[in-house]
Amino acid sequence: MPIDYHAEKRVFTLSGGECSYGLHITPEGQLMHLYWGRRVPDGAITPHLAQDYPVQASFDLAANCLPWELPTLGQGWYGTPALDIRNAAGDHVLQLRYAGHRIYAGKKPLEGLPAVYAEQEREADSLEIDLQDSLLGLQVTLQYTVLNDSGAVARSMRVCNAGSETVQIMSAAAASVPLWGSDYDVIHLKGAWGRERAVIRTPMGQGEYAVFSRRGASGHEENPFMALCEPSATEHTGGVWAVSYIYSGSFYASAAADVLGNARLSMGMDARVFTWQLRPGEAFQTPEAILVYSHQGLNGMSQIYHRLYRLRLARGWWRDRQRPVLINNWEATYFDFTEDKILSIARQAHALGIELFVLDDGWFGDRNDDHTSLGDWTVNRKKLPGGLSGLAEKIHAMGMLFGLWVEPEMISPDSDLYRAHPDWCLHVAGRERTEARHQLVLDMSRAEVQEYVITAISAVLRESGADYIKWDMNRNMTEYFSPALPPERRMETQHRYMLGLYRVLEAITASFPRVLFESCSGGGGRFDGGMLFYMPQTWTSDNTDAMARLQIQYGTSMVYPACAMGAHVSAVPNHQCGRVTAMQTRCDVAIGGNFGFELDLTALSAEDLDVAKRMVRRVNQLRGLTQTGKFTRLISPEKHEYAAWQFTDEEKSQALLCVYRILSVANTAPIRIRMYHLNPDALYHAEDGRVFSGAELMYQGMTVTLTGDFSSQTILFSQSES
Ligand code: GLA
Repeated sequence: MPIDYHAEKRVFTLSGGECSYGLHITPEGQLMHLYWGRRVPDGAITPHLAQDYPVQASFDLAANCLPWELPTLGQGWYGTPALDIRNAAGDHVLQLRYAGHRIYAGKKPLEGLPAVYAEQEREADSLEIDLQDSLLGLQVTLQYTVLNDSGAVARSMRVCNAGSETVQIMSAAAASVPLWGSDYDVIHLKGAWGRERAVIRTPMGQGEYAVFSRRGASGHEENPFMALCEPSATEHTGGVWAVSYIYSGSFYASAAADVLGNARLSMGMDARVFTWQLRPGEAFQTPEAILVYSHQGLNGMSQIYHRLYRLRLARGWWRDRQRPVLINNWEATYFDFTEDKILSIARQAHALGIELFVLDDGWFGDRNDDHTSLGDWTVNRKKLPGGLSGLAEKIHAMGMLFGLWVEPEMISPDSDLYRAHPDWCLHVAGRERTEARHQLVLDMSRAEVQEYVITAISAVLRESGADYIKWDMNRNMTEYFSPALPPERRMETQHRYMLGLYRVLEAITASFPRVLFESCSGGGGRFDGGMLFYMPQTWTSDNTDAMARLQIQYGTSMVYPACAMGAHVSAVPNHQCGRVTAMQTRCDVAIGGNFGFELDLTALSAEDLDVAKRMVRRVNQLRGLTQTGKFTRLISPEKHEYAAWQFTDEEKSQALLCVYRILSVANTAPIRIRMYHLNPDALYHAEDGRVFSGAELMYQGMTVTLTGDFSSQTILFSQSES
C-alpha cells in the first residue's frame, strides 16, 4: 500500500519507489514525524521513534526536542516555526490537535498554484491530515502525495479560518522535516547573474543554516532547493534528503540543528516579506515542496527530480515533443537590427538546419536601448516595416518557426503605458520608485494589471502568429507594498504578485497551447519548479561562455532536467567572459541542454559554419536521448580540470558520453571515466569503431585523451548484438 494507516498504532506510512515517510498521532493528538528514508514494509515503523526523544522537565522543554511534523510557536518550541499565526488577542500560541484524515488515490491540483500532478490515479496516492486549534477555530490541513514510482513526496498546507476572529499568518512552510542526528552536509545552489547555481556543499554545523530570497523572485543568488546528505555521500552513493519548492517568488530554506543535535530541513515563505491576513471563512494555501530521498547519492536524487519535473510538472503540447534547434538574435545584434539583418541571419540559420528563429528584445515601441518602452507591446515599424506578421510570414515561408521575446511584467517610466497608468507599478506613496535597468515592476497583484498583460500579450501572439515566446523578467521587486491593498494586507503583495502572475501564465498558455514558452530572468534568475509548470524550458544563464556553462549546467542539473535548460552557442571572444573556445567545444556544451545559437551566423568562418551544420545534424540525431534520457553527472567541473556527464536511454541501448577538458595539465595520464546505467552483459559500439562490454564501461571505464585547454569530446555508444 502506498499509504498505510495503522489505526491501533496511529501510524501513517507513505511509500513509493525506494522511499518511505512515516507519521504518528500521539495519544494527545499531536502529529509527530517518525521517519523519512529508505523504503520499509508497511507497519515496520513504530511510534518508538518519536517516544525515544528524551523529555526534560524545565530546561529544555520537551516540546523543543520533539519531532513535530508542524512545529508552531508559544508552547515550548523555540526553533523556526513551520506555521506562525498571530491571533486577534495578539498572541502566537497554537495548539493543534489531530481532527481527522483522508487517504485517496491520485492527486488534487493546488488551486491557482503550480504543482506536480498525476495523470492517472494509480500514479500517486494522497493523504490529508486535519489539525485543529479549537480555541481559534483554525483548521490546518497537511497535504501529502506520494508519487508511486519515485517515492517523491509532494507537501503543502492549507490553513482555514473557521473561527470568528481575523488572524494573521506570519510565516508558513510547505515542509519542515526533522531528521535524526546532524551529521550531514548541506547542499544548495548559490550564484549571481552570469554564474547561477554553483553547487555549495558544507558540513551542517550546529546552528541554523539558511538560504533565502527576498527579491520577489526565486533569484540568481539562491535556488529554492536544499539537500542534506551523509558526509560520505557521493554523486552515486549514500543517503540524500532534498527539498525543492514549486514556487517562483521569495522563499526561505533552512537546515537547523535542535538542542539535541537533531536536524530539521524546511522550505517555505520568507517571513520578512510575507504575512497573510485570514478573515473568518477564508483559507490560505501554501505552495508545494517536493521532498526527495535517495540512497543512491546526488545523481539518484537528481534523476528523481528530472523525471518528475519533465513528465509531471511540465505540461502541454511541448512536454513530450522534441524541442526545436533555435537561433536567437540577442548576442548577434542586441537592439540594433533591421528586418534585412534579421532575415539574413534567418536564411543562414535555415541553411544550417536550424528550425526556430527567435527575435529578442528591441522590436517594440521606441526600444533602441534598455531605457524605454516596456509595456508598449506594439511593433516598431521603423525596424520591421511589415510588422510582426510581415516578419513572421517571411520566416515561416523559409520553413522555420518564429519566436519572440517579451518582458510582460515590467514597465518603463518612458512608456505610453506608464504615462497612462503611473500607479500600475509597485510603489509606495511619497517614496522614490527604485529603478533597475531603467524599469519598474508592474503590480501583478492587481486584477486590472493582470488583465492588461493577458490582453496585450495575447494580441502580440495573435498578430505575430508566434510559435515560441521567451518570457523575460529583468529585475527584482522594490516597494513591494501594493497601495491597492489595505495597509494590513500590504505585506501580502509579493505573494499576491506571484498568484497574479500564475493566473496570467495559466490564461495565456491555455489560450495558445501550441506555443513553446521559455521563461527567463536575466538568464536564470527564476529557474524554478513554479515556472516549469507553465513553461517547459528556461534560459539557463545570460553567460554563454562554454566553460562557465559547464559549471552552470552542472549545478542546474542537481534539480532540473536537461530538457528544461536553454543552451546556446555564442560568438568568441565570449561577450560575458572574453574567453575564446572552439566552435566544436561550444556545441558540445550546448548539446547538454536545449540546443541553439545566439550569434551572427552571417559572420562565421566557413570552417565554423561546417562545424555548426554538422552539430545541428548531430543534435537532430541525439535530442531524443538528451531531452528524455537519464542524465548522470560523472565529473564535476569544480576543479577546473575535467567535466563529464552522460545521457542514457530508458532501454540502455544508447548512451552519450560528454567529456570536457577545462585546463590542460602537462604530463598527466589520460582520464578514465566510468559510465553508469548500462547493461553489463551487452556490447556497446562507440562511434569511433571501438566495441566495449557494458561491464567494462561501467566497472573499469574507458580512457579519454583530451589535450589543450577547453577541448571536448562527445561519444555515442549504441548497443549491438556482436
Ligand atoms: C535578458 C535576457 C537576455 C536578453 C535580454 C534582452 O538579459 O536574459 O537573454 O533577452 O534580457 O534585453
